[in-house]
Amino acid sequence: MKFENILVEKNKEIGTIIINRPKKLNALNKTTIEELHVAFNDLNNNNAIKVVLLTGSGDKAFVAGADISEFANFSVDEGGSLAAQGQELLFNFVENLETPVIALVNGFALGGGLELAMSCHFRIASDNAKMGLPETSLGVIPGYGGTQRLPQLIGKGKAMELIMTAGMIDANEAKSYGLVNYVVAQEELLPLAEKLASKIKRNSSVAISKAIKAINANYKDGISGFDEEVKQFGSCFGTEDFKEGTTAFLEKRKPNFPGE
Ligand code: COA
Repeated sequence: MKFENILVEKNKEIGTIIINRPKKLNALNKTTIEELHVAFNDLNNNNAIKVVLLTGSGDKAFVAGADISEFANFSVDEGGSLAAQGQELLFNFVENLETPVIALVNGFALGGGLELAMSCHFRIASDNAKMGLPETSLGVIPGYGGTQRLPQLIGKGKAMELIMTAGMIDANEAKSYGLVNYVVAQEELLPLAEKLASKIKRNSSVAISKAIKAINANYKDGISGFDEEVKQFGSCFGTEDFKEGTTAFLEKRKPNFPGE
C-alpha cells in the first residue's frame, strides 16, 4: 500500500514509522490513523521485524494532536465514534501489539499525539519535546485513552493536574514523572532508540510478546494480571525459543532464538 501521510522503513530487524505531515505538525487525521493501523499491522505480521520505532517527521513535532479541523463540527454521535474507532484502530491496537513499540518523542506530543506515545510500550524524548493533554482548553476531554493511560503512567494527581490545566511539560519534567524513560539531544534520539532496540532484539521475541500481554493485563478490567502471568509463563515452556534459551545457557553459548 502506498501511504500519503506516513513513511515506513525496514532495516536490521527494526521497522520505523514516521508520521509525515510536518506542515500540520503531524496532526492525526482520519487517513493518517488508517495508514498507521495498516503499517503497524504489516510490521507486526513480518517475522523479520523485532522492534518498531514510531516518530514524527521534522524537528518540531512528534504529533500535535488529533486534527482539530476534521472534528470541529461533529455531533455527539460522531464524537463518540471518532474516539471509539481511533482507539480500536490505533491506540488500543498499538498497546496490544505483539511486537515492541518505542515512541521517539521528537517535539510536541499534544493531545492525540501524547495519547499515541502513551499507547506505545515505552517512550524516549528529545530535549526540545513538549507534552500535554490540552483538550479541556478546546472544550473536550482526551478521547484516545488519555484519561486512562496518563494516570497509569504518572499517577492520578499529576494526571488530573495536567488534564485540568491543559498545560505542557518539558522533556525533563516528563522524565521525572516516568512518562518518558530517557531524554537526549534531538540528534541522539534515533541512535538511542536503535541501541535500545538492539538490546531487545537479542532476546526471545516470543517471550517479549507474552510479557507485553501479561503486563497489559494489569490494566484491563475483569482480568487478573497475576493469572495472565501464570498462563503466559506456562505457555513459554512449549516454545522453541524457551528450548533454545535454556539449552544455550547450559551449553555456555549465546542463544539464537528462532522466534517460535
Ligand atoms: N490539528 C490540526 N492542525 C494543527 C494541529 C492540530 N492538532 N496542530 C497544529 N496544526 C496546524 C496549524 O493549524 C498550522 O496550520 P496552518 O499553517 O495551515 O495554519 C500548522 O499546524 C502549524 O501550527 P502553528 O500553530 O502555526 O505552530 P506554532 O509553532 O505556532 O504552535 C502548537 C505549535 C503545537 C503550540 C500549536 O500548533 C497548537 O496549539 N496546536 C494544537 C494542539 C492541540 O490542542 N492539540 C490537541 C488536539 S485535541
